[in-house]
Amino acid sequence: MIKLVGVSKVYANKIKVLDSVNLAIKPGEFVSIVGQSGAGKTTLVRLLTGEERANSGQVFIGDWDITRLSKREVPFLRRQIGVIFQDFKLLPKKTLEENVAFALEVSGGTRKKINKIVPNVLKIVGLEDKGRRYPNEVSGGEQQRAAIARALVHQPKILLADEPTGNLDAINANEIIDLLLRINKFGTTVVLVTHNKEIVNRLNKRVISMDHGRVSSDQERGKYFL
Ligand SMILES: Nc1ncnc2c1ncn2[C@@H]1O[C@H](COP(=O)(O)OP(=O)(O)OP(=O)(O)O)[C@@H](O)[C@H]1O
Ligand SMILES: [Mg+2]
Repeated sequence: MIKLVGVSKVYANKIKVLDSVNLAIKPGEFVSIVGQSGAGKTTLVRLLTGEERANSGQVFIGDWDITRLSKREVPFLRRQIGVIFQDFKLLPKKTLEENVAFALEVSGGTRKKINKIVPNVLKIVGLEDKGRRYPNEVSGGEQQRAAIARALVHQPKILLADEPTGNLDAINANEIIDLLLRINKFGTTVVLVTHNKEIVNRLNKRVISMDHGRVSSDQERGKYFL
């Protein structure tokens, strides 16, 4: 499903942020990626969303080699991959409902389709009663749940979560992780980038550790150790 073959990435400063990374994640897996700040985790996420290009090696999503994706192909990729971030990235002047709908509008979704999908995904994340609120009228955990709803509108095969609990207290963080687990149970591959030791240890699922742009360990039922 996700495969990196000898992937290296350097930014303008010429330092190898990813250094010959090999990685395979199967459909339906739930994988945590851990590592010190600067290890290259977000860069890896950006390669998978097409936001950045590898300098060498290949990146596959299924059979699709996205290594040299054209600009025109990026929207197709984005529909297969949902992404959530530490800072939620909701539009402050739109309600939660409108934020979710917007993801469908930009990809040309019909009103009929939007009216059907938006309540569905808000229900999945437990926000069916709060769709009319603005981001600043709900808690951080609820904002993240709205961001997850938005990430689900195209029924992505893969959900990438880059530090999704970084701005949340322990209770809200656990709720978000439980939601990710539920989404995973329905078949979506989940890649969770996190610094949260308690969460990784509780998950007891595959853990990939990164160190200076390399995969330093990869354990089927891993614990957090850095
Ligand atoms: N656009 C960029 N231009 C130049 N260097 C960058 C850029 N983005 C990231 N870097 C550098 O690449 C390295 C890896 O960054 P990355 O954001 O992938 O790390 P990370 O593992 O996500 O760290 P954190 O845990 O702090 O989020 C860092 O040294 C960072 O400074
Ligand atoms: Mg990061």
